[in-house]
Amino acid sequence: MIMDGNGRWATSRGLPRLAGHRAGVEALKRVTEAAPEFGIGVLTVYAFSADNWRRPAAEIGGLMRLLRAYIQRETRRCVANGVRIQAIGRRDRLDPAVLRDIENTECATAGGGQLLLRIALDYSSREAMSRGEPPGPDVDLLIRTSGEQRLSDFLLWECAYAELYFTARLWPDFGRDDLAAAVSEFRRRERRFGALPEAAAS
Ligand code: IPE
Ligand code: IPE
Ligand code: MG
Repeated sequence: MIMDGNGRWATSRGLPRLAGHRAGVEALKRVTEAAPEFGIGVLTVYAFSADNWRRPAAEIGGLMRLLRAYIQRETRRCVANGVRIQAIGRRDRLDPAVLRDIENTECATAGGGQLLLRIALDYSSREAMSRGEPPGPDVDLLIRTSGEQRLSDFLLWECAYAELYFTARLWPDFGRDDLAAAVSEFRRRERRFGALPEAAAS
């Protein structure tokens, strides 16, 4: 899930960009809660790309504070709901306090079997591949909000046969019904993986 459009959501309301990121956290909670209902067992969300370090320090600081608050507040609920949290991406450039919170939540939620929530942080797919990191599970459905139609260095290897779904909805407005629409579109797609369509093969 490429959670995009927080800044535009805020700007269109005359609010600071950080207000959009705060609303984006609420959208993430809605989607995480709804995911198991749609048979989603692994959800990888793009929270901060390696290229996002190019943003102003104040926005980066605000994002990291929001991330810490989210983790600290949600860990207990994740344990109760069987949600396992795992971070992917570089860890060596993160603030030690952020890293500590991440490690705490990874440890506390390790037993969760309902949903694996992977949070991509300081993440670059090209960097991960060039470091020889083993790929994660193949992506079935990739959703990007806010109308942008690009991958922005997210799970390039894992998306080899992913169904791509782009929606104009800005991430802070995204909710259960949008997820339902994406999943139902996904179910209508015919996935071939290079073979012939089912009708032709039989
Ligand atoms: C996505 O929203 C969140 C992050 C990249 C951290 P943006 O901040 O990219 O929002 P827009 O694209 O500027 O609207
Ligand atoms: C991708 O969004 C990164 C995240 C959603 C965290 P960006 O807004 O940073 O991507 P570009 O710059 O529009 O490609
Ligand atoms: Mg963006």
